[in-house]
This record gives sequence, structure tokens and C-alpha cells, in this order.
Amino acid sequence: MKTKIFILLSAFILLIGCAVNSSAAEKIVMKIDDPVMQVDGQDMNIDNDGTTPVIINGRTMLPVRAIAEALGLNIVWNESDRTVTITAENDKEENAQPEKTTNKKILVAYYSAQNHTKGAAEAIADELKADTFVITPKEPYTEADLDWRDDNSRVNAEHDAPDTRHIELESSSPENFADYDVVFVGYPIWWGSASWVIDDFIKNNDFTGKTVIPFCTSQASGLGESGKELEEMAGTGNWLEGKRFSESFDEKEVRQWASSLKID
Ligand SMILES: Cc1cc2nc3c(=O)[nH]c(=O)nc-3n(C[C@H](O)[C@H](O)[C@H](O)COP(=O)(O)O)c2cc1C
Repeated sequence: MKTKIFILLSAFILLIGCAVNSSAAEKIVMKIDDPVMQVDGQDMNIDNDGTTPVIINGRTMLPVRAIAEALGLNIVWNESDRTVTITAENDKEENAQPEKTTNKKILVAYYSAQNHTKGAAEAIADELKADTFVITPKEPYTEADLDWRDDNSRVNAEHDAPDTRHIELESSSPENFADYDVVFVGYPIWWGSASWVIDDFIKNNDFTGKTVIPFCTSQASGLGESGKELEEMAGTGNWLEGKRFSESFDEKEVRQWASSLKID
């Protein structure tokens, strides 16, 4: 678990003055005792643990990791000497090509029924100069198939009878899969879990030696156990915690997350 580091409000104002990264948020609003902050007008959880800003002995303390990350700053906590180091990269020229931050070969594999996850996947791939692989069911889902409010829809039938959930894919093995060091796996959340459309992709590939990073989009649910469930299903690979984005995500947030991963 990440260590909680708080910062004094007055120090934060100084910090804002030195936030120079071009992908940085311009406005962050936090409320005492509220685990949700607003970043450029969009609600985001401060972290996954429900951390909130607090007032201690009359001093306003803000969780610095969330602030630093929103501002595009790097923050490192060193347990042994109990120091926090915050660094800012100098702004890159407008229109400059995004730098490739790693020599690792990266694949962004995703399924997207209604194009939300597709948007996030394409932003990650563009940010990291990664290849993409679209997980495509042989029998695509129509809008009617996806209507979870209709008791008789395809998704409801599959949800109610897990035995029928085996979805055949156009292809479950990307070309040269063995060459990739890092694999992002993207999916929509269906009933709190990863859409089962990606199951064959997960089961039919060997992730040994690869870093695997799940990400998803949803209306309201979090990542939940979806990453862990996929890790178990795969049985191989070094799976990282992953990230959930709202279906109405801000592309800047996705790019910022992808570039913050420092895949080395
Ligand atoms: C069958 C189905 C089940 C869903 N279940 C959930 C859910 O449990 N929680 C949630 O927040 N959103 C749920 N949603 C909304 C989707 O997760 C959300 O719209 C997502 O961004 C869709 O991604 P896509 O456009 O890439 O398919 C569901 C959508 C569908 C079609």
C-alpha cells in the first residue's frame, strides 16, 4: 500500500507555482473530509483508500501524492530515510513529438463494445508509442444485445448463465505476442467485473515474463476485483494494480496515467 503523505496548504500553493508539466491539471479542488477531488472540473477519487484532506491543530493538510500526480509531478517516498522527493520535468515544446520513455515493446490489447474503452486504449497507445490489438468477438454485440435493462437481451442471458459465456474471438493471439514486454489489457466493466468477451484472450496467451496492466472504463463502478480475477484466469505474468476510467474520461487524465507508469 502507498504511504499517505500530507502537505501543508501553504506549501501546496508554492508547489502549484512550480507545476510546469504540459499535461498537468490547471485546477484542483479538495474539500476537508471529502475523498473526492475535482481535477479540471472532473470528479476523481483522491486515492483508492478514501483518504481525505484534514485539519490538524488548525492546519490544513492535503494528501500530496494525489496533488503531485494531478500536476504531472513525480513523487517518491523513501521509507528508509523518511523523505518525500517531488520533481518536475521542464515543459516540453508545444507540438513536440511525445518522447518514447522506454525501449520496452508495448501492446495495448482491448475490447470495447461501445467505443469508450477504445478511446482510452488509443490514448494510451499513442502516449506510449505502443501497438494495439483489438479483441473482436466473432459475433459482435448489437446495441440490443448490450441492453442490460432488457431481461431477454444477450448480455443478460450470458450474465445469468455463466456456462454460455464462452465468446469466440476473431483471433485471441496477436501477431508476435511473444515479443512484447508490457501488455495493457483494456475492457468495459460489466456487472462489476471485466466483460467476459476478453476471457479467451486472457486464457489463450502466455504472459510469462511480461508486465500486464489492466485498465477499464465504466459508468460508476471501480476497477474492483477485475484485475485480480484476470490475473488468476491468466495464471502467468506480472500483473500491476491497473486503473479504471470513467466512460466520459478526460483524455489528458489517461495520457497522464500512462506516462506516469515509467515502464523501464
Ligand atoms: C452489459 C453491461 C453491463 C454494465 N455493467 C456496469 C457496471 O456494473 N458498472 C458500471 O459502472 N458500468 C457498467 N456498464 C457501463 C459500461 O461499463 C461503460 O459504459 C463502459 O465505459 C463501456 O465501455 P465500452 O464502450 O468500451 O464498451 C455496463 C454496460 C453494459 C453494456
